[in-house]
Amino acid sequence: MIAVDLRLAVQCALQTVDANRITFADRYPDNTTVDNVYPLRRAQNGFATGDNYGWTTSFWPGILWLAYELTRDDAYRALGEKHVANFVSRVENKIDLDTHDIGFLYTLACVAPWRLTGNEAARQAALQAAEHLMTRYLPAVGVFQAWGMLDDPRLRGNTIIDSLMNMPLLYWASDQTGDPRFAEAAKRHTAQLRDHVVREDNTTYHTYYWDIETGEPLGGKTAQGHADGSCWARGQAWAFYGFTLNYRYTKDETFLQTAQRCADYFLDHLPEDHVVYWDLIFGDGSGEERDSSAAAIAVCGLQEMARWLPEGARRQRYLCAAEAILTSLVSGYAGYHDPTSNALLLHSVYDKPKSIGVDEGCLWGDYFYLEALTRALKPDWQLYW
Ligand code: GLY
Repeated sequence: MIAVDLRLAVQCALQTVDANRITFADRYPDNTTVDNVYPLRRAQNGFATGDNYGWTTSFWPGILWLAYELTRDDAYRALGEKHVANFVSRVENKIDLDTHDIGFLYTLACVAPWRLTGNEAARQAALQAAEHLMTRYLPAVGVFQAWGMLDDPRLRGNTIIDSLMNMPLLYWASDQTGDPRFAEAAKRHTAQLRDHVVREDNTTYHTYYWDIETGEPLGGKTAQGHADGSCWARGQAWAFYGFTLNYRYTKDETFLQTAQRCADYFLDHLPEDHVVYWDLIFGDGSGEERDSSAAAIAVCGLQEMARWLPEGARRQRYLCAAEAILTSLVSGYAGYHDPTSNALLLHSVYDKPKSIGVDEGCLWGDYFYLEALTRALKPDWQLYW
């Protein structure tokens, strides 16, 4: 493994963040780059250019809060606080919140500033968001519906592996309010994913459907992976980071065991440079694209798992893998390799089947790359999730 200077990698990333502070300020980049450059979020469906809609806008303030922690520069904090105001308005006016991704949105945009600065408006907005997320809980099934309106017959009773990352908002809400409803629903949802979405061979479905009246499990499919029976790489990374976070808040050992099964499969399917292809069915020589964002999420998941595992060979394997993947991201995939780019991380895939964001930077890839660097440089970093 070649040695990389992680401090230098952070410096390069922060230079890009500083330029993006001018370009985007309190507006939002699009989900992915176009030719390695983020445009402002496009105007559509009544939203103006740069507006706060969609599932990825919180990754931009999430990056600002990480930058604040890495530097203690108040300029990042001030801009992060402007984004709090945007997210307060979004939840108060219920703007584009018919999704489970409320957890991604409000954990980074509001729980993070509340944790770091005690921002009370952020706390209230995050609690409101958690309450709104609860409207998507399907009690007969014990899962949160991921996509779409609750009365849409095509999407009724669906959930997806990514949803595990939305559960920490609910544990936080129970902790803040003393109301166990949020945490109980999150734990039951996670158990359903453990039992149905993780397959016997330790791979994961991307999506899974239940009958919402009877609770009967109906079966899994893919949306962004190669095939229903293959293993979408980012989904597998969401799985082991997500199950670990759910372990963190419940101490249910089966969640940590499931995370390990998913991580082992992921690590057994790494290509030579340690950065996965967009579906784990593909390897070197396939001609397919990498998903660097899956790799960045995986580094954070492995680092988090290592926090909870006893000393030993398994823990060591995860720590070594996290280091190897991060080293490869810095040396081959970081944004500075393309001086025209305003992304922190290049070469991800958003949705190959739909040809969206293929071999581009993406906002969540940037966020988790900076989280991975922060974790590596500050081992006592207190996570936002
Ligand atoms: N959560 C959506 C994705 O990973 O593409």
